[in-house]
Amino acid sequence: MSTTYRAVAWNPQKRRYDVGAAGLLLGFLVVFLGVQATVRPELTIETLLIRALGAAAFTSLNIILCIGPLARLNRRFLPLLYNRRHLGVMMFTLALAHGVFSIVQFHSAGTLNPLVSVLIGNARYTTINQVPFQPFGLAALVILFLMAATSHDFWLHNLTAPVWKALHMGVYLAYALIVLHVIFGVLQGETSPLLAWALCGGVLTVFTLHGLAGRQEARRDRENGNLRSDGFVDVCSVAEIPEKRAVVTCLSGERVAVFRYDGHVSAISNVCQHQNGPLGEGRIVNGCIVCPWHGYEYLPDSGASPPPFTEKVPTFDVRVAAGRVLVHPRPHQPGTRVEPALVPIARGPQRGCRAGDPARRA
Ligand code: HEM
Ligand code: FES
Repeated sequence: MSTTYRAVAWNPQKRRYDVGAAGLLLGFLVVFLGVQATVRPELTIETLLIRALGAAAFTSLNIILCIGPLARLNRRFLPLLYNRRHLGVMMFTLALAHGVFSIVQFHSAGTLNPLVSVLIGNARYTTINQVPFQPFGLAALVILFLMAATSHDFWLHNLTAPVWKALHMGVYLAYALIVLHVIFGVLQGETSPLLAWALCGGVLTVFTLHGLAGRQEARRDRENGNLRSDGFVDVCSVAEIPEKRAVVTCLSGERVAVFRYDGHVSAISNVCQHQNGPLGEGRIVNGCIVCPWHGYEYLPDSGASPPPFTEKVPTFDVRVAAGRVLVHPRPHQPGTRVEPALVPIARGPQRGCRAGDPARRA
């Protein structure tokens, strides 16, 4: 796998998405500032800006956390998932501006180092409504910084997928810290009680969507028990697999995507090498399985990405008998070619996979 840095390849769709997201965030800031300035004319422009930036960052973090489960529950949300990282970097920029303005406004005039002042200034832990809320914001900002700084695929490859994934799961810790930041801020009367209601709505939405998506995933992970005496598992009928799409089944604890294309059936691991995206929710385009999350491509018969890419996923033996699709649960080494099973339908014009197109990848 290459660890060479490649600049982000923007395409018209990504550009539209970024411009749309930036426009919405700008609109949020303008409306928030306008409403707050009208309702609370006594507030200074600095306080208004700090509040608007914090609220915009927190709102975008809620949206980011909802995109994953929404895309699992309904494929129509998948386009939002492709560019979730861009929204993450925008959210961090807003959070950073909010944190820096707050530090300049409230912690730069004293004798203490401003960062130390955030941590130990106003340290009153005796009653719950006096617990200082800003250290929670600072801790969250540090986590968000690490995530934004390593958001490029260069770091994904260098740190390895498991380490990168573990680091980026830190978003949930950051979220919890920000919720505490706002709760203690509200308790101290620093932030609006209206925000407490918005906070409850956001947290409830994030939890509910994660719960629903988790329940759906658990249903998918139920082991397929149709094991035959020859060691193959009866997965489904050929007709149940839509052309150029897959049926996902669970064999020996691993999700397997069984694709049908141009009169053939092949089975590969469902787990994309990029960020564990669900390959079985993708489709075959120009002879390649395209991961629905960021467009990584794999050949259905070998599980290998077309050149110049080097990712590989495990493959599985497949047979078609009496209209049923049978898959052996033992995986082959990633990238091992397995002869596709033939199905008695007219073959399409071509099933060769062209060379990988870097622009397709996010
Ligand atoms: C160095 C880090 C941070 C510091 C020093 C800080 C400081 C503050 C301060 C002083 C306030 C009260 C502003 C006022 O009403 O006068 C506040 C509110 C808030 N902060 Fe932070 N914060 C930090 C990080 C964050 C982060 C990372 C987020 C979210 C991504 C965040 C979200 C919020 C929100 C949503 C509010 C309430 C805004 C409102 O009242 O409408 N903060 N923060
Ligand atoms: S998870 Fe990113 S391309 Fe598959």
